[in-house]
Amino acid sequence: MQKKLNKIAKDTNLFLKNFIKKQKKSELIIPMQYGLFSGGKKIRSKILIDVGLIFKINYKSLIIIGSAVECIHAYSLIHDDLPCMDNDILRRGKPSTHIKFGESTAVLAGNSLLTLAFEILSHKNLNLSEKIKIDLINKISETSGHLGIAGGQYLDLNYEHKKVSRKKVVEMEIKKTGKLFSFCCAAPLILKKKNKREIKKFENIGANIGLLFQVADDLIDYKGSSLAAGKKTGKDKKKGKATLISLLGHENTIKYGNKLILKINKMLRKYGSRSKDLSETLEYILKRNK
Ligand code: IPE
Ligand code: IPE
Ligand code: MG
Ligand code: MG
Ligand code: MG
Repeated sequence: MQKKLNKIAKDTNLFLKNFIKKQKKSELIIPMQYGLFSGGKKIRSKILIDVGLIFKINYKSLIIIGSAVECIHAYSLIHDDLPCMDNDILRRGKPSTHIKFGESTAVLAGNSLLTLAFEILSHKNLNLSEKIKIDLINKISETSGHLGIAGGQYLDLNYEHKKVSRKKVVEMEIKKTGKLFSFCCAAPLILKKKNKREIKKFENIGANIGLLFQVADDLIDYKGSSLAAGKKTGKDKKKGKATLISLLGHENTIKYGNKLILKINKMLRKYGSRSKDLSETLEYILKRNK
């Protein structure tokens, strides 16, 4: 798994470096690069490649689409660490972007990474029809805004120190993290011009994978080591974050994660051995320590 992730990270970073190099220079490029190239597992790109394998999509297109996703992800992390949000000083084993460059620069570098995603998806070097590109941009916009990352982050902060139902916690985690995974699972089907129903099915698979990913992230915060994770652990409890761990306890949350894997694998059953890589990624997501 690590070897596959390393290859994806290398190819994605190479694409992004070249893409940025071809643009005019600006003062924000250094903080943008800091947030983008500071590490990161590239798990969302891996999901794109795994689903792409089921539908026989060419690797290069998936790396470009994954690069756009990683820009949005990097933006969301820069903003997530700001003092007005989670107020975290360590990210990927390094000082958070606002610690290194100041708050206003971090906000603006984050904004610029968000819009860079749309530049990448609309650029001519992504060799897809205009219709497909518009569909991709439409879907990724939806998963990033008030119905996705931004809306979920709002709920995450709003729920601090409140007693929130399990249903609401799941809904919040799906928005803040799951929706971008929905995009990754839907994108290969958009490229294949599949019908709305099939796309919806994969968006649902993605939402469940994203939920699994956030549950595992919450478990890392609860039990994991800061050194391995590259970010401070044990923060969620202190901040009164509404998580499944706070509702169900540690053991039951692990069980919940395992049940989610079973549920997702059941949805993938009809794709047989073509979904093997995706199933392996699910195991990695729950068992990882970073
Ligand atoms: C962390 O995401 C934030 C969440 C959505 C849980 P990742 O764990 O994918 O972060 P990197 O990119 O690997 O650092
Ligand atoms: C972040 O969730 C989700 C985002 C969309 C950025 P967390 O706040 O739990 O992520 P970490 O633990 O800081 O990486
Ligand atoms: Mg947060
Ligand atoms: Mg955080
Ligand atoms: Mg976390």
